[in-house]
Amino acid sequence: MTLPPRPLGDAGGAPDAPEDSAWVFGYGSLIWRADFPVIERIPARLHGWSRRFWQGSHDHRGTPEAPGRVLTLVRTSGATCAGVAYRVRAKVLGHLDVREQNGYQRSPVRLRRGDGTAIDAWIYIAEPGNPAWLGDAPAAAIADQIRRASGPSGRNAEYLLRLAAALRELGEDDPHVFELERLLLGR
Ligand code: SIN
Repeated sequence: MTLPPRPLGDAGGAPDAPEDSAWVFGYGSLIWRADFPVIERIPARLHGWSRRFWQGSHDHRGTPEAPGRVLTLVRTSGATCAGVAYRVRAKVLGHLDVREQNGYQRSPVRLRRGDGTAIDAWIYIAEPGNPAWLGDAPAAAIADQIRRASGPSGRNAEYLLRLAAALRELGEDDPHVFELERLLLGR
């Protein structure tokens, strides 16, 4: 399945040079906020990793005084993280390197398309020990922090709710995300 591209913003103009393209995997806000020109957008999976709200956000969904919680990936044997792979012009990576700062690093990974074929892509991952790392906490505490936090990019709750909606749109389950959504909404 090819998803409709969502080319927004002006991070490099029209994507007209596929020969200098690269793949980027979105598992968090990159799924629902693609503020860059996109050549192709497809569902993809990353095996051996899980999505977790374990990274602090001082710059987008919180402040240094009251950090929010955003996603990173943690190694999990047997797990699969479903997301979206974007083929973009290589210069878009420069835009994303700025957007995905505050503890994230760009790393190469091998994704799988729905038919099992491989895609070599970049991911932005925040590893344990980075200055904004928060780590695990009880789900109710994570949901409460997300409910209260807000930063220059907007409310932390929006980040969670839009992600949950995007995963539903993709037909994907993620117990961690949907439990936090349920707690946030008081269901
Ligand atoms: C991603 O979406 O792939 C990285 C984490 C984020 O920006 O939410």
